[in-house]
Amino acid sequence: MSIYLENAASTPLLDETLEFYTKQIARYFGNPHADNDFSRECRKAITKAEKQIRTAVNASKDVNIIWTSGGTECFNSVFFGLEWNAGDEVIVSSLEHPATNNPLKEIAAQGVKCIALPVDKSGRFSLGDFKAALSEKTRLVSIMSIQNEIGVINDLEGIRKVLNETGSKALFHTDNVQGFGKLKLDWQKCRFDFMSTAGHKFHAPNSCGALLVNSKIKLKPLFFGGGQQKGQRPGTQDAAVIAGYGFAAEFNHKHKDEKLKDILELNNICRTGLSELTDNEGKVLDVIFHSDEECTPYVLTFSIKGYQGAIIMRFLSSIGVYIGVGSACSAETKTPNKTLTAMGVNKDIAYGAIRVSFGWQNTPEEIKIFLEKLQEVIKSY
Ligand SMILES: Cc1ncc(COP(=O)(O)O)c(C=O)c1O
Repeated sequence: MSIYLENAASTPLLDETLEFYTKQIARYFGNPHADNDFSRECRKAITKAEKQIRTAVNASKDVNIIWTSGGTECFNSVFFGLEWNAGDEVIVSSLEHPATNNPLKEIAAQGVKCIALPVDKSGRFSLGDFKAALSEKTRLVSIMSIQNEIGVINDLEGIRKVLNETGSKALFHTDNVQGFGKLKLDWQKCRFDFMSTAGHKFHAPNSCGALLVNSKIKLKPLFFGGGQQKGQRPGTQDAAVIAGYGFAAEFNHKHKDEKLKDILELNNICRTGLSELTDNEGKVLDVIFHSDEECTPYVLTFSIKGYQGAIIMRFLSSIGVYIGVGSACSAETKTPNKTLTAMGVNKDIAYGAIRVSFGWQNTPEEIKIFLEKLQEVIKSY
């Protein structure tokens, strides 16, 4: 038995994408940057994938796409690709991913100040605080669409509205790594300048990311080499992976609304079942939900008072049930979950945090088995 509920960390390929992608591996072996028929076929596949990505977020055809190795490289391409002046400011939310926060720490050496918007108990910042933080010095606003540890959906249209109302010239980047292929997000409505995406979060091939860039903006490249991708990100591209990415982007775009209903059902079964967990004496346990009902249903984070998330995770993993404790990237650290502490959750409860994240392959039966196994683990804890 194997039940995988760590989809916010990485998703498996769906059967449809797997079937398509495996065929492309044999087909697109050519070097897309050479001058022969195999290369031209590869280039065509890449152009098609770019179109599929733009369509998925309603970006116009002049929006450039830079293919990268994933989300982290997309962010670094933006943060290190811009020319900064000392005194420039960047506004982020205080729950951004380390792949945003850590490059920004590096940029601070150039005299760039990073302002993190505080969040309330639910993990949300206020547009009022955003407006107050905005000034003529604001060069970039970088806000994630969906928070990876608790699933808060940020109001990016609201951010754009404030930028318009104040006449701000700040550039707008969204970390759409958790949202792409799941959340309806409109490039034109939000008038983004940059959007970062990563294949492994939406059932596309791994180790591939797409950074969408406003065509009026020129980024300095991170790498130097053979001039591929107009010198913006040189290195030979893998047309099969990119074709798989485009296929999954289109597939998810088509099915995301109906799938959202299925995911909501899984979330509801899970939420209800968690509220009914009991201890050895049959007393209902105190389960604290950190993800509220306004969060994306793809992520459900909670703590069980008196129980440590990491221990439960290990027990479950030994019997083939895979869950997370907050972010996969920080599962190794011994500190309590930083996102939860920023939301004001006390340290002991934050240590207990467990993240269950759903994917399109999961079924209601799997959630029921997960709940049964969790109940057994609690009894023998
Ligand atoms: C919200 C968010 N942003 C960025 C990243 C980093 O993306 P990648 O692992 O593709 O580099 C992740 C990965 O967990 C994420 O969840």
